[in-house]
Amino acid sequence: MAKKSVLSGIQPTNQLHIGNYLGAIRNWLTMQDEYACYFMMVDLHALTLQQDPKALAASCYFGIASYLAAGLDAKKVTLFLQSHVPAHAELGWVLTCFSYMGELKRMTQFKDKSAKQGENIGVGLYTYPCLMAADILLYRPHYVPVGDDQKQHIELTRNLAERFNNRYAKNIFSVPHPFVGKVGARVMDLQNPGAKMSKSALNSKGTLFLSDSDKQITQKIKSAVTDSGREITSYGEASQGLMNLLDLYAAFAEVETAEVCAEFSGKTYGVLKVALAELAVAKIAPLREETLRLSAERGYLRGILQEGAERAAGVARRTLAEVYETIGLLS
Ligand code: TYM
Repeated sequence: MAKKSVLSGIQPTNQLHIGNYLGAIRNWLTMQDEYACYFMMVDLHALTLQQDPKALAASCYFGIASYLAAGLDAKKVTLFLQSHVPAHAELGWVLTCFSYMGELKRMTQFKDKSAKQGENIGVGLYTYPCLMAADILLYRPHYVPVGDDQKQHIELTRNLAERFNNRYAKNIFSVPHPFVGKVGARVMDLQNPGAKMSKSALNSKGTLFLSDSDKQITQKIKSAVTDSGREITSYGEASQGLMNLLDLYAAFAEVETAEVCAEFSGKTYGVLKVALAELAVAKIAPLREETLRLSAERGYLRGILQEGAERAAGVARRTLAEVYETIGLLS
């Protein structure tokens, strides 16, 4: 029997951070043996905000290198850049025509990002979920492993798939399920724990990048905002900042948060921060070193991307052809 598919992607805007790793990449690793996996850097999505061309190109290499350094095996999974498979943009347009203004306006990510743009909000920021839906539906995946913040986009993708299938009374698209891990699905900003950790936060002290040095990791964790308390009591009573540190410890240690609370109960915030900094360095440092080593091997990475794009394009082209035929575009 053919394996079920899984698809996901990350934007190459700035360096990847631990939210991307704990919320997404780490779950991808658990799926590579069981599923036919498609993992990409969604470079076309990055264009929704202004990008420096050299930095964008470097981030694509860095991202793919991070995927490999984290343990994804290019022989088992298909790794590619979104822009290398033209069907994404093509189906993206079709799905834009199937989407309603009202449903796109409700997207939290659009509201957050557009609020930071002032007067001139790019149209791409608004229609972006249609391109994301195309990314997904082309591969008919069963699961889309993402962090908590992407669940709304996947809900929209499901609605678009059902709308399309119903309109033509044909099962062209499969309706995908979000796969969100139990820990690490919502890593918060270390300086502003009411907001999720993000690549583009104004204060970079709140974001732990996968490229940060051991010293930066330690400093960022030690200066994380908590509250005016001193000792850890229970998770239920913890402030958002403290909860985030407990959750992060659990995510890195791969245990339940309750276990971490029991371990640190009665201890000071300082003790938790020191232990978390040590654990984070132990997990991030090898990943960083391997990512930096692989990032420099451009020829090797280009080979993987080329092979990945060929495999992905084969699948994507077949779905797109069925869509075009269904809606009445001549082949
Ligand atoms: P992006 O690039 O913002 O994030 C990539 C992945 O990392 C997860 N993530 C987080 N998880 C936990 N805590 C955080 N603070 C955190 N920040 C980010 C995201 O949930 C995501 O899984 N629209 C997507 C990219 C995309 C995509 C796709 C994803 C485009 N097409 C198709 C899946 C399938 C985005 O902007 O992710």
